[in-house]
Amino acid sequence: MNSLKFQRVLIASFCFFLLQSYAVQGLVRIGLTMGNNTSFNKNGVGMITSDEDIYYGEITIGTPGQRFTVVFDTGSSDLWVPSGNWKGKKPHNLYDWKRSSTFRPTGRKPVTITYGTGSVIGVLSLETVNVGGTTITGQNFTEGRSTPTDKDPLLGETFDGILGLGNPKLSVTRTSPVWESMVKQGKIEQKIFSIWFGRSKDSGAGGEIVFGGKNPAHYTGEHTYVPVSGVRYFFQMNNIFVGTIDTKKCSTGCQVFVDSGSSSIRGPPGLIADINGKIGAEQKCSNLEKLPDVTFTISGRSFSISPRDYIHQVDNYCTSRFQAETEAGVNYWTLGLPFMRAVHTVYDYSLPNVHIGFAKSV
Ligand SMILES: *[C@@H]1O[C@H](CO)[C@@H](O)[C@H](O)[C@H]1NC(C)=O
Ligand SMILES: *[C@@H]1O[C@H](CO)[C@@H](O)[C@H](O)[C@H]1NC(C)=O
Ligand SMILES: *[C@@H]1O[C@H](CO)[C@@H](O)[C@H](O)[C@H]1NC(C)=O
Repeated sequence: MNSLKFQRVLIASFCFFLLQSYAVQGLVRIGLTMGNNTSFNKNGVGMITSDEDIYYGEITIGTPGQRFTVVFDTGSSDLWVPSGNWKGKKPHNLYDWKRSSTFRPTGRKPVTITYGTGSVIGVLSLETVNVGGTTITGQNFTEGRSTPTDKDPLLGETFDGILGLGNPKLSVTRTSPVWESMVKQGKIEQKIFSIWFGRSKDSGAGGEIVFGGKNPAHYTGEHTYVPVSGVRYFFQMNNIFVGTIDTKKCSTGCQVFVDSGSSSIRGPPGLIADINGKIGAEQKCSNLEKLPDVTFTISGRSFSISPRDYIHQVDNYCTSRFQAETEAGVNYWTLGLPFMRAVHTVYDYSLPNVHIGFAKSV
């Protein structure tokens, strides 16, 4: 159904969360919680169990608000939460239109939204959505009712749903994403949003998204902005260093995009194998202390990520989060959480062309 389907790893488990979000005029903040392990990868690339694989925050839908934990995903552009007899892992919050005075049906045929790790089938409805204390009215969202098979990876996820922050053109349901609605309804002053993913597992303090601004507490120095193109908001990466070694892998430019719904950094298999070879991580984590930083050059500026960002450690078993792209015909790179934990990211919609800005995360 979805030609825009792409690889991603959405991993989480349910845990305690505390809504730590608030809105001041023109600025909407939402605190994120870093989720615990579980889940699996449809490509069977290792067993992924770690405490650092996903971040989610809480939103409400309906009046009075029904609470949901959602992954804020820059790699997709629809909003869905489970409803009805959703067969997914329990407990889940299920949306119930009968308990909401602001529900409106759209009368549209069922839709299927496909991610790299599963698909959701549902109906499109209109509702009032509250993100970080800001109310958006008449928001299209999908009430997830089922999946194409009973083995769908999405059924194993323990967050409730996904809130897409990507290009509106990526919307499978062809409706305005939450961010676009927020802008259209004048909820924010500055047409930017920023994402910080921290390393703390404290509820609400694992990360932060600020709609309408950026929080200086979470980055240092100025942001370097690049213009983006294409539906996924691609830009050029000019170089990749492993320690001080120039891999020469992107000397003619690599096409990349930033994906907060992915727990890995993915690229063409040959290049990834070369990078992993140069990193030389031991499975038994014996050389963890000595592993090099990996540095990406974007618009002439270097952004380094450290082993704690790109090594995935479970007990005494270490694997690299640099993973070969498995989807055929994909020649671009995906910069997921290992990159975003090290780099504070701003999506700037204030110019005619969208720009993405990067600064060192703190
Ligand atoms: C994650 O799991 C560990 C142990 O499995 C637990 O101690 C910790 O509280 C959990 N974190 C959250 C945020 O639920
Ligand atoms: C996390 O994964 C470990 C290893 O698979 C498991 O023992 C533990 O119960 C999991 N924790 C949660 C909260 O799912
Ligand atoms: C919401 O969906 C309805 C029905 O499909 C459509 O007519 C409308 O344009 C959509 N609204 C937005 C803001 O996307």
